[in-house]
Amino acid sequence: MGLTLGEGGTPLVKAPRMSATLGCELWLKCEGLNPTGSFKDRGMAVAVGRAAENGARAIVCASTGNTAASAATYAARAGLACVVLTPEGATATAKRAQAHAAGARVVEVRGTFDDALRLCRELAEQEGYVLVNSLNPDRIEGQKSVVGEIVEQLGRTPETIALPYGGGGNVSAVAATGVESRIVVGEAAERATTFASAIRIGAPAHRDNVHRLDVEVVALSEDELRDAWRRLAREEGVFCEPASAAGVAALVKAGVEGTAVAIVTGHGLKDAGAVDVSAAQVVDADIDAVLEVLQ
Ligand code: F0G
Repeated sequence: MGLTLGEGGTPLVKAPRMSATLGCELWLKCEGLNPTGSFKDRGMAVAVGRAAENGARAIVCASTGNTAASAATYAARAGLACVVLTPEGATATAKRAQAHAAGARVVEVRGTFDDALRLCRELAEQEGYVLVNSLNPDRIEGQKSVVGEIVEQLGRTPETIALPYGGGGNVSAVAATGVESRIVVGEAAERATTFASAIRIGAPAHRDNVHRLDVEVVALSEDELRDAWRRLAREEGVFCEPASAAGVAALVKAGVEGTAVAIVTGHGLKDAGAVDVSAAQVVDADIDAVLEVLQ
């Protein structure tokens, strides 16, 4: 039996309000409904399963949070040890909690994601350690399944597929399927400092490949990212984490016609701290007080 927690098979839902303003037929592939709350589970199930079959002692990864949560979870399931290296203090609390809960060794590095990845590549040279970042081809192989699902759920190939571009592993996976859609990817213009912590990656590992591919890269300002993220929750009821809105933001900026599917990569609860909750009003437990603030 392969290693699985039921990843994939996520909902494809229509986005009628954003479709109307964009002038297209927009659908959202809700990858936040995977077992650990992000698209990473598709590739991680394959990569950790293979590592276990091949007798690995431990898996290692660098992460802005979601890869760590997914790796830790699938390692626990497979009975393998897991080491994750993250940039100190720069990952969302829920993602850190997932990695700790699953029993991973979490090491926070005084540095960036790029530093953590460099260290992981060195760590993976040790006997019995397998790197499960997207440099591992099994991750890419597993992540391809999203495209087949989209075509099957939609009943046709969409004219456009949009997704975020962080390290570029997912872009590489989608493009490697040979799908005939226009591929539009959104990256943070301010890569090293963006509030969308999942894609806070200064030097994408797959950059050379992404630039060789037939994909449109759209650089997004912080406001453009934030606006798309808020619209998804408020206009469509799809609450994702900020980075996950980068595909939609890229469509808003680049323009789109026909049928488009945006891959919404991670759940909003992953990064609840990104939401401003300061507008909540506190009142006495009294109906008049409630009515008064609702005026
Ligand atoms: N969306 C989310 C929610 C992510 O967590 C990531 C990457 C991406 C998009 C970008 O995907 O790197 O394949 O281009 N997260 C990695 C991590 C870096 O460590 O969890 P990519």
